Amino acid sequence: MADAKIIDGKAFAAALRGRIATAVGEIKQAHGLTPGLVVVLVGENPASQVYVRNKARQTEEVGMASFEHKLPADTGQDELMALIAKLNKDPAINGILVQLPLPKQIDEQAVIAAIDPAKDVDGFHVINTGRLATGGSGASAPLIPCTPLGCLMMLKDHLGDLTGMPAVVVGRSNIVGKPMAQLLLREHCTVTIAHSRTRDLPAVCRGAEILIAAVGRPEMIRGDWIRPGATVIDVGINRIEGEGGKTRLVGDVATGEARSIAGAITPVPGGVGPMTIACLLANTVTATCRQAGVPAPEF
Ligand code: GUN
Repeated sequence: MADAKIIDGKAFAAALRGRIATAVGEIKQAHGLTPGLVVVLVGENPASQVYVRNKARQTEEVGMASFEHKLPADTGQDELMALIAKLNKDPAINGILVQLPLPKQIDEQAVIAAIDPAKDVDGFHVINTGRLATGGSGASAPLIPCTPLGCLMMLKDHLGDLTGMPAVVVGRSNIVGKPMAQLLLREHCTVTIAHSRTRDLPAVCRGAEILIAAVGRPEMIRGDWIRPGATVIDVGINRIEGEGGKTRLVGDVATGEARSIAGAITPVPGGVGPMTIACLLANTVTATCRQAGVPAPEF
């Protein structure tokens, strides 16, 4: 079989950010609104610090207002909850993102529950996860988690209509696996959620025309687990020891093997990663418009 098409998430994300910048300009012109996104970072996780820097830069590049709160690693629950209450009330802020993971002393679920669901641009609040699961639309449309939203955009761009396709999601996290499965179900796929304890995982994966790898284990999904011609979305970002003591990034899929079998595949880096931040910006525009009661653009 010919080599798989490489789905260029970096280019897709750049084009999406271009559409977002246009929409932000139009919203400013028409309604005098500047969408504002705040990122809250607790502690000094190096990977999180890189994400937060990239988010701030890209937020400003599309013409939105960027706010940041960096709190020390020993911040208490009450202090963080008080900050969220303040941000919920601030009219300059339309989107709130609390970077995960949070330090051990903080109850993550309680923090997510404290965010105003209308400003929950991560789509992690139970109101948003519930609306995604129960098919909320119009005034009760959910905000959708950014990573699975980015995966879905790339899938639809590559495949068109997904109706009836067998899809396997490997991974059951709240951030990716579960919302990804809900999104694919909404597109009328036949969805299987698999995970590290699934019996005969390779055979389950071989049933997939759409395979989403979101387990966080470097190159776990091998070439012979992939159905010939399948579309493979690799959500993994794993740093491993490379040659000469250097580290390098790999996904959850053994890309070298997969490329001669899959029909299309996202690379790591440059696949899903850049789409996540672009979708966060899109969600912030959506949230701003819904809060103001003006029509939200479609991305
Ligand atoms: N940590 C890793 N991914 C994410 C994400 O999408 N949102 C937040 N808030 N934290 C994360």
